[in-house]
Amino acid sequence: MGVIGAGNIGTSHARSLSREVAGAQVRWLYDADVARANALADEIGAHVAPTVEQLIASSDAVVIASPDALHAEQALICLDAQRPTLCEKPLAPTVSEATSVVDAEIDLGRRLISLGFMRRFDPGYVALKESLSSIGQPLIVHNVHRNEYAPYGLTTSGTLTNSAIHEIDINRWLLSDDYATVQVVAGKPGPRTPEGELDPILMLLTTRGGVIVEVEAFVNAAYGYEVRCEVVGSEGTVEMGDGSYLTRRAQRAVGHEVPELWLGRFEDAYRRQLQAWVDATRVGTTSGATAWDGLLATITANAAVTAITYGPQSIELPERPSLYR
Ligand SMILES: NC(=O)c1ccc[n+]([C@@H]2O[C@H](COP(=O)([O-])OP(=O)(O)OC[C@H]3O[C@@H](n4cnc5c(N)ncnc54)[C@H](O)[C@@H]3O)[C@@H](O)[C@H]2O)c1
Repeated sequence: MGVIGAGNIGTSHARSLSREVAGAQVRWLYDADVARANALADEIGAHVAPTVEQLIASSDAVVIASPDALHAEQALICLDAQRPTLCEKPLAPTVSEATSVVDAEIDLGRRLISLGFMRRFDPGYVALKESLSSIGQPLIVHNVHRNEYAPYGLTTSGTLTNSAIHEIDINRWLLSDDYATVQVVAGKPGPRTPEGELDPILMLLTTRGGVIVEVEAFVNAAYGYEVRCEVVGSEGTVEMGDGSYLTRRAQRAVGHEVPELWLGRFEDAYRRQLQAWVDATRVGTTSGATAWDGLLATITANAAVTAITYGPQSIELPERPSLYR
């Protein structure tokens, strides 16, 4: 395998592929920051490739963990070389770039891209989806997505196209339904909200089947990283646990730790995602979300960005190509 990007998530994926996931070895790393790539290569016994193109040519399969704006161009090189690829979310920040990847895959006539919407592998979300049949018809989903501080200094549009895009994908997957409309409501900025940005915000989506999906996105929440999801149905509700297995009682308090970053909350999901991807790659298929799922998420996130300025938006989706049926 080759891993592009040796930052937060690239390091986590490279370590996990090397130490935890069966059937894979990371041989190649590339990062624009050569010192960072060298340090990780030394740690896991890999080599540093001089260019992205050489990494892709030398690897049987590729993980893209570079910044958002590079995903599409690097995914296109992977498709050109016909390499199975796990591309971190988002597929691209813009609809035109995301469309170019889907078009290239359609031209190839084969699915090679698996998209890193790892919540589809999280035991909490999997249990939530399995339990939906016990609460009648889903009517409303309440979601909370909070970061201790804005990752990558996210601007308001980045909150939607990079961060809340997880909720856009996971609710679509939970409900097996596509979105019809989106609106965004911003309230009073908190004391940590940078000048000119909106945080926290509420995104309100409706699905084609009529379910309301509400998302609180708060990227400067100060106290830690937290993700919650509750589905309200016609006969009851189900709420996802927070991913912690221990309850601590100490210093006159009872509770559990809140992680600083997503790496703590979704550790299991990342590992399961990588194992499923390696297993799928070995038999010539993809796993989890597809490039098509990535495109629909990017279309929806961009409609939400438009909704900030222009009010509620209808979400126009292209017809699903046969490759993704
Ligand atoms: N699925 C998830 O939950 C999840 C979690 C974290 C990050 N991500 C995604 O992974 C990507 C990386 O996030 P991160 O937190 O690791 O960021 P990061 O800033 O920690 O790391 C990005 C790395 O990419 C490197 N880089 C810059 N230009 C490059 C280039 N041209 N080619 C290769 N590498 C280059 C940087 O030097 C840096 O080491 C983002 O797109 C982010 O959305 C997904």
